Amino acid sequence: MTAASPTILVFDSGLGGLTVHREIVKLRPDARFVYAADDEAFPYGRLSEVELLTRVIAVMAGLIETHRPDLIVIACNTASTIVLAELRTRFTVPFVGTVPAIKPACAASQTRMVSVLGTEATVAREYTKALIRDFGQGCDVTLIGSKRLAVLAEALLNGEDIDDEDIAEEIMPCFLEKDGARTDTIVLACTHYPLLLERFNRVAPWPVTWLDPAPAIAKRVVALIGHGESVAGAVPSIFLLTSKRPAAPLLQAALRGFGFSF
Ligand code: DGL
Repeated sequence: MTAASPTILVFDSGLGGLTVHREIVKLRPDARFVYAADDEAFPYGRLSEVELLTRVIAVMAGLIETHRPDLIVIACNTASTIVLAELRTRFTVPFVGTVPAIKPACAASQTRMVSVLGTEATVAREYTKALIRDFGQGCDVTLIGSKRLAVLAEALLNGEDIDDEDIAEEIMPCFLEKDGARTDTIVLACTHYPLLLERFNRVAPWPVTWLDPAPAIAKRVVALIGHGESVAGAVPSIFLLTSKRPAAPLLQAALRGFGFSF
């Protein structure tokens, strides 16, 4: 694959994939990025596996035809844990997925108590349970499914006020104490959650390591497409919503912080 200004499509149900996009931009600032948010079907955490599979395949077919990407990043755990294999069968373009970072979390935990915070769908998946069986390294791993965090993260990026109490309610089940040991590592198994990291730290009952897989995903992208030569020919990134709605002014302001221009 050519290393010269490849087109990288970053895809999520909404704005969470921006946390992955920003890490890839750091390593390949010369690439042409297309960020696609499937806002029409957001949140994916509420779709059945069949609905999600059908939806992502249909949207992906359209995006590939329009943008001809050299590589696609499915920046969504809820989708990756169910659609990746099928996407790789149907399309020839390489896909990089985002799946719960259970292996590095268990390797890093000192207390051997790890929580995995994802959408209700992600934590219910067989894929996630297999990761714990294969890479749990004897740690006590607790799965916590959140109903509302992805929606709260979208609200925050759209300039709305969100309450610390609402966040605390969602993350508190991740913090466990057993036989004098406490959870010390929490996997951010939804790409929306790093958007709330400041708030998580504010309401956390004790400090923990939050494991965000985005830097590792960016490295995987570079392993596949190589390092760029220079940023001289940098092309502006494209941001699009599947609803075709224009981004509202407050969202546009937030997106500028992620390097998009309007
Ligand atoms: N950003 C998505 C993820 O990583 C999920 C949010 C949703 O429910 O759509 O799982």
